[in-house]
Amino acid sequence: MENESNAKDGLQIMNKALRQAIIAGNWKMNNTPAQAASLINEMKPLVADADCGVVLCVPFVDIPAALEAAKGSNIKIGAQNCHFEASGAFTGEISAPMLKDMGVEYVIVGHSERRTYFGDTDITVNKRARAALENGLTAIICVGETLEQREQGITDELVALQTKIALQGVTADQMKKVIIAYEPVWAIGTGRTATAEQANEVCYVIRETISELYGCKTGNAVTIQYGGSMNAKNADELVAQPDVDGGLIGGASLKAEDFSVIVKAASK
Ligand code: PGA
Repeated sequence: MENESNAKDGLQIMNKALRQAIIAGNWKMNNTPAQAASLINEMKPLVADADCGVVLCVPFVDIPAALEAAKGSNIKIGAQNCHFEASGAFTGEISAPMLKDMGVEYVIVGHSERRTYFGDTDITVNKRARAALENGLTAIICVGETLEQREQGITDELVALQTKIALQGVTADQMKKVIIAYEPVWAIGTGRTATAEQANEVCYVIRETISELYGCKTGNAVTIQYGGSMNAKNADELVAQPDVDGGLIGGASLKAEDFSVIVKAASK
């Protein structure tokens, strides 16, 4: 109990300046390699002055073209999933060492679309995150509740539990390469954004959970993004929240202009 209240006291004096805001685009299954190159070339000058991290998580086959187009710029390239084994009989899968070898720096794990359509569970999300971290990749771990769960009033407990399971076996040192993306499932691709207060509240719960597990210093330092219909219009208010450190952007990351407005919002 004492630890818990210490954790909370430590968090009350937290400061956004202790951590990096990161805007990560999640292109999902969009853009051919040629389209990837041309979109990144369009984005480069628009985000060159960013005062936040800028990442694009692209389809596997786009990675070489994306890396080439982003070369010399402040745009980092990520993938959208990785398998937990390094190699083996896993038809259709891509491993963390393969991504690392290509020059990828980030990988999304546990996106709700992977959980819903491809059978990812809290346990496999944990295994994928660990594989990513063991290979020196930064893992963007997605957590979030469904509408039914929110209406049931179990959002905080659920998201805390997802976070804890995802981080099982992750060392304090590896936490430097962990980003948590809070993505309420009901807000993804629906045009229905969480209010800034809702986003901040759950991001704080995640920060508190991480502080309980790793201490306040880590809790204060970890980047916690909001994701779910973040766009050029609502980004300002969302990223200004004390516990929201940037965003994971789906639809709006497919348009250079919109994406750059979000990057600018996180740079303020
Ligand atoms: P959206 O997607 O911005 O299109 O809602 C966010 C995400 O799925 O990461």
